[in-house]
Amino acid sequence: MLRPREAVRSLPSYHPPLAGRNGLRLDFNENTVGCSPRVLERLRQLGPEELACYPEREPVEARVAAFLGISPAELMLTNGVDEGIHLLCETYLESGDEALIVVPTYSMYRIYMMAAGAQVISVPAGKNFTFPAEELRSRITPRTRLIAIANPNNPTGTVATERQLLQIASAAPAAAVLVDEAYFEFCGQTLLPSHREFPNVFVARTFSKAYGMAGLRVGVLVGDSEQMRAVRRVGSPYNVNAVALACLPEALVDQEYIAQYVSEVQQSRTRLERVFEAAGIRFWPSHANFVLAGVGSTKEDSAAFVENMRRRGILVRDRSSDHGCEGCVRITLGPRQQADRLLTALHETLEELGIGQGASRS
Ligand SMILES: Cc1ncc(COP(=O)(O)O)c(C=O)c1O
Repeated sequence: MLRPREAVRSLPSYHPPLAGRNGLRLDFNENTVGCSPRVLERLRQLGPEELACYPEREPVEARVAAFLGISPAELMLTNGVDEGIHLLCETYLESGDEALIVVPTYSMYRIYMMAAGAQVISVPAGKNFTFPAEELRSRITPRTRLIAIANPNNPTGTVATERQLLQIASAAPAAAVLVDEAYFEFCGQTLLPSHREFPNVFVARTFSKAYGMAGLRVGVLVGDSEQMRAVRRVGSPYNVNAVALACLPEALVDQEYIAQYVSEVQQSRTRLERVFEAAGIRFWPSHANFVLAGVGSTKEDSAAFVENMRRRGILVRDRSSDHGCEGCVRITLGPRQQADRLLTALHETLEELGIGQGASRS
């Protein structure tokens, strides 16, 4: 009888709740208004030839490299950061190797690591979800081959410092250290170009979040050029589709659009955090386009909150099943008018469910 590999049989399945997302979508950390109009214009111009031909990644990689101030040999465009994570697992992990993550964090690290047959070691975040630099370092062994760190982290919005990350990288020279900067634009802190000094460091970026192109599936993986040669060997030559490749240069050119969106989201984030503070609700100050908040102490509390918000047309994400997040929800921010809608609904939900001291409108 045909049987999947042992590592695959024991994999948990990950089903993001995408079905029936009717309402203001503050549940997946996407851009809530969409991509630059320049991208839409390029989409309208696509012709049959562009779709008939196999996509050529290299010319667009050269554009992205110039944008990042690195050479094309140091990067690879990927089918979202997800594929970048997958490729690193396939490139560096042998069955039985150790791979380290900090929990709570982005779910796909564990899944790809496990699929490669690695033993995943979860290091709990410190108090208030601070980056557990010392604890993580103490878990590095000669069998550690991959360490994945989201910076800022999802779902907590917390960050590790450059110093902490580089200390991890130098303590584990035989391990690939992935610093996933999916939320870079909202935070501004980057490890680039440290991959030149630390050839085991990889930095990932995405066009799914600030750039509003999650549906096109495109991300970037950056690393030492020698290492990237190995990673490229694992990937498909056609991993990023022609539509995404056609749109990406337009998205990059329109930095004004990104800056404006990011600035509005940051203002909305401050407003939401102030409301939580005034209401005496636990939250973790965020460096990303979302905020994690404790709306109770059980998963029933967070489920009731999510459902109450959904009835008011606002979708937010229950994070109760994440490590240390019982009773927590994660709320994505959008521009001002969406924040107005969010805060109105939040105020009503808090009042109806008797959470906190009642949120004041702001
Ligand atoms: C930390 C982190 N990395 C990667 C991703 C996925 O990015 P992409 O859409 O580029 O695959 C997400 C999406 O939620 C994320 O939170």
